[in-house]
This record gives sequence, C-alpha cells and structure tokens, in this order.
Amino acid sequence: MDQIEPLFPIPLMRSPGLLSPELKDAAVAAIRNARIESNLRSDQLFHTEVADPRSNKLFQEIAELTIPKLVDFGVLLFGETLRWTVKEMWTNMLETGGNQTLHAHANSFVSGILYLTPSHPASNTVFVRPPGGFDFSFRHHTRSAAVGPYNAGKYMLPEAEPGDLVLFPSYLYHEVPRNQGGQRITIAFNAIPDHLDCWGYRVTFAP
Ligand SMILES: [Fe+2]
Repeated sequence: MDQIEPLFPIPLMRSPGLLSPELKDAAVAAIRNARIESNLRSDQLFHTEVADPRSNKLFQEIAELTIPKLVDFGVLLFGETLRWTVKEMWTNMLETGGNQTLHAHANSFVSGILYLTPSHPASNTVFVRPPGGFDFSFRHHTRSAAVGPYNAGKYMLPEAEPGDLVLFPSYLYHEVPRNQGGQRITIAFNAIPDHLDCWGYRVTFAP
C-alpha cells in the first residue's frame, strides 16, 4: 500500500461562527462609526486606528474569544500550551473595487482575521506559498495540471462567513483580490505568547 506523507505543512485554522451574530453586529456598528484612515496602497481600502484590545471593551471581548483558539493553534506551532495575548487589532473596510496587496505581519507569531460581512467568492483571502527557498525552479501551473497541496502556489479560502475566524502563522503572505462585491469588513490581529523557553534559554514578550 503506497502512502503519501505531508512532510512539512503550514497550518491554517478555521473556526466557523466564533463570533455570535450579536457580537458581530456590534462590531460592524462600532467600526462604521469609528474614525477611519485610508490605506497607503489602495484608495478603496480603509482602516480604523490600530487598537490595543485592552483599551476597548468590544475589541477586548472579541480578543478573549480568540485566546482558546490561539492556544490550540500555538500547540501546532510550538508543541506546547502557551499563554497567548492579542497585542494589536485593526479593522479593514474594503469597498467595491478595492484590494489588499500581498503582505505578511512582522513582530508577531500568529495572526488572525475575523470576517464580519459576507465576502464575494472572488474576494476571499488568498494565502501564498512562501516564495523562494526550497522549491523547484520549474513550475507546472498549466490549465491541465491537477493542483493540490503539494504543487499549488496559492490557497484561497473556500468560504468565510460573518463571524468566522481564521488563524495563520504571521510569516505567511496573504492578499485580498479586487473586491467584486459590496463593502467587506474584517478585523485583523497579531498575537504573541508571553514567553518561549528552549532548554532554559527564555525569551519573554511583555507589553
Ligand atoms: Fe494581513
């Protein structure tokens, strides 16, 4: 019997319906009433100010809901149950025709996206295989090629309903294709464990 081993996969966690409809609606209302800043690279992408979740009751409640998920996800990344903190949160309001360019999140271990409004199927978040490094210099991305986890260059979330959470390692590059639907609102955040201890060499991350 042949066996295929997925040797070094990158985890991505989907937690459908993490936010209750009430909390999701409260977040949308708060974001629509907040002071907004435009994105440097897209005229149709807006953010509220980067928030410290400890300074906002609603964002604090949302951050607390993500903690058990961060703990579980952290076990996949570090093999240990760690104390996780959401250290910053911000919002993304993507108007029709806007997009979010390819980026990753620095100074963070796990990042997350909470979806607050429906996304057009063509405008779901796309995660991109880390460029360079260990891949063949030849690719075979043709119309006829069967694409799977071992040869795909990109992974698009198949669906993201309002209230859903997605967690991914902060180094993983991602983007949002041009929004072909209505206004699309998400909350994004970065999270860190309070410390990592490797054979007594301890690195502590404190606010
Ligand atoms: Fe991002």
